[in-house]
Amino acid sequence: MSILIENLSKKFGTFSALSHINLEIKSGSLVALIGPSGSGKSTLLRIIAGLDTATEGRVWFTGRDSTFLSIQEREIGFVFQNYALFKHMTVWENIAFGLDIRSTSLNIISDQVKQLLKLIQLEKFADRYPNQLSGGQRQRVALARALAIEPNVLLLDEPFGALDIKVRKDLRNWLRRLHKQAPMTTIFVTHDHQEALEVADEIILFKQGRIEILGNPQDVYKHLTTNSSS
Ligand SMILES: Nc1ncnc2c1ncn2[C@@H]1O[C@H](COP(=O)(O)OP(=O)(O)O)[C@@H](O)[C@H]1O
Ligand SMILES: [Mg+2]
Repeated sequence: MSILIENLSKKFGTFSALSHINLEIKSGSLVALIGPSGSGKSTLLRIIAGLDTATEGRVWFTGRDSTFLSIQEREIGFVFQNYALFKHMTVWENIAFGLDIRSTSLNIISDQVKQLLKLIQLEKFADRYPNQLSGGQRQRVALARALAIEPNVLLLDEPFGALDIKVRKDLRNWLRRLHKQAPMTTIFVTHDHQEALEVADEIILFKQGRIEILGNPQDVYKHLTTNSSS
């Protein structure tokens, strides 16, 4: 699914968190949003997810005006930093959760969860509870849970932010491979420029609620190294 953001603005009172954003995200691409804290990255993600509404402007999903669609209608999977798993549910139950509430048949749920456990390489951990997992394993489960509903779009807001560097590197490589296998339109927020450069097809640099530059990793890298103050 492609995403078109048209003249999107968001105000909190008199403060402009996003100002006239225009942006097209191609179907199946992996786009990274970078920029200083407070530059509007999460706000944009929340508006795309339907968790928040824009003050002005429109959001289109593959040619359909989706500005006012409900969260459910958008079929979006999201993972946030420290995205809490359900503590009282096992890994299996966490992943199956989105399928359960859609009353999918038990056989289908079972097949799907098995596949996802394989994908995140935690087949042997199905019966564990979140507090019996490492941070990296927990974020993989959160990703599997987001993927279980076969979303049209995957939104990741600093999903690996709280993890140590080695685990982050493993997970970003894993995400890159996963995206190659099954290219799903993915927006990935990170404050780590290196992470964005390694993972994304395209990078968007935000500054004070506006897009400062948008382009392929090479172009953005050049911009970052010649404007190192940003
Ligand atoms: N619910 C809110 N009420 C008031 N201000 C907010 C709210 N959410 C975000 N903001 C402000 O909007 C700006 C952008 O926030 P955010 O999108 O979270 O930035 P980022 O994710 O790039 O760090 C920040 O200045 C933040 O304080
Ligand atoms: Mg944020």
